[in-house]
Amino acid sequence: MSFTVAIDGPAAAGKGTIARAVADHFGFAHLDTGLLYRAVGARMLTGVDAIKAAKALRPEDLNGDLRTAEIAQAASKVAVIPEVRAALVDFQRAFARRAGGAVLDGRDIGTVICPDADVKLFVTASDQVRAERRFLELAAKGAETSRAKVLADLRERDARDSARATAPLTAAADALVLDTSEISAKDATAAAVAHIAKLR
Ligand code: C5P
Repeated sequence: MSFTVAIDGPAAAGKGTIARAVADHFGFAHLDTGLLYRAVGARMLTGVDAIKAAKALRPEDLNGDLRTAEIAQAASKVAVIPEVRAALVDFQRAFARRAGGAVLDGRDIGTVICPDADVKLFVTASDQVRAERRFLELAAKGAETSRAKVLADLRERDARDSARATAPLTAAADALVLDTSEISAKDATAAAVAHIAKLR
């Protein structure tokens, strides 16, 4: 039987950490849907048409270093294109229906991809906290950046993700909102696991 957990929220709010921990805890498969848009964005940066890239996307394209600031911006630019989003729907829905359970994290999972998900979480945190987390992640990888640049990038991406006409970033009406600004990853994960366990 399938069981789907949808986790949405803005960049660097802790969705990925919570999604991976939930998947580990319950033995569910996990799909970071941001990687789909990042893979398409990375192809666009090499000159490939974004819609063609989305239609031709294969699972192996999700490997590799897609977590750069440049690819994040490219991802949010291709993500406004309705044909790009449409080309990625079937793959995400098939993943969500896997036997044994699935966790998908992104921006529109609870609203558009899996409106009937068994559990919906909307993970958020203040801009400042999210920027600090992303800055530390990028700095740990040796990326040359500054806190101010990371904050400006996050705000630009959030604004584009929230304002787009197709599948904008927004909490589903039936999502549990988890604000991670003032709680540790461990506590946020424990809250998510407890909520899912009640609905399972
Ligand atoms: O989650 P991540 O930061 O990797 O996502 C990169 C970009 O991909 C987001 O800024 C957003 O524009 C896009 N995205 C989306 N819908 C999703 C997941 C990601 O539009 N479900």
